[in-house]
Amino acid sequence: MVQEPVIGIFDSGVGGFTVYKKIKEVTSANCIYYGDCLNAPYGNKEESEIRELIKEDILFLEEKGVTHFVNACNSMSVLTTDALLKESHISTDRYTDMIRAFDKHAVCTPDEIILVIATTATIRSGVYQDVLMKKGVNAFGYAYTDLAVAIENNRTREELLAIVEGGMVYAKEVGATSIIYGCTHYPLIHGLFLEAKEKLGWTGEFIDPAIYVAEEVRQWGITGEHGFCPYSSKDTPAFIKNVIKFV
Ligand code: DGL
Repeated sequence: MVQEPVIGIFDSGVGGFTVYKKIKEVTSANCIYYGDCLNAPYGNKEESEIRELIKEDILFLEEKGVTHFVNACNSMSVLTTDALLKESHISTDRYTDMIRAFDKHAVCTPDEIILVIATTATIRSGVYQDVLMKKGVNAFGYAYTDLAVAIENNRTREELLAIVEGGMVYAKEVGATSIIYGCTHYPLIHGLFLEAKEKLGWTGEFIDPAIYVAEEVRQWGITGEHGFCPYSSKDTPAFIKNVIKFV
């Protein structure tokens, strides 16, 4: 019997919903979502711990019958090597993530100045900066140590805005022409980034790499009935809020 294709999307928590939003615009494939809210945030953890969590998240989805994997977390994507996928028995032609999709599909104008804003784990890895430099772009990184967890904990808009402003000040300082959302949680508060942009007088554009993941998924060419099934390791208020918002 041929196994029905099912896409499994995973993140440390609610950030992956922003990737699901783009994916569902390009495919009717049935999707399962897994947010590991119990262990969020991943972005402040050591690499070895994140690697173990990647394998556990993949295993969870495999047991649910997933055939195609979307790693919707940058902090995991920067550490997901082909060797790690092999250990999890996942072939690279039914796997994508934030970095692989960006590397494959993003077209940059040389001499652009791009600031990647992301978690400590993502910035520390230097992977985005390397990919951007390979594309001929001047790349900078800014780590928000506590923004993803603040979103995960449903903090007030004032508290979030105060955190957001730190990265925007840095964007002005380095003369960034674009900012990449290098954490899938950040597009959830795109409105606050626009507010900070206006307030601080920064004139660049925001790039959400989820569009490149969606392009990769579109190229898989799989179809289904637009089914969606969300799971979490802990049903937090933020998880429930996002299930209601995106389903
Ligand atoms: N959404 C995840 C990312 O894209 C990380 C958030 C976290 O720190 O868990 O990096």
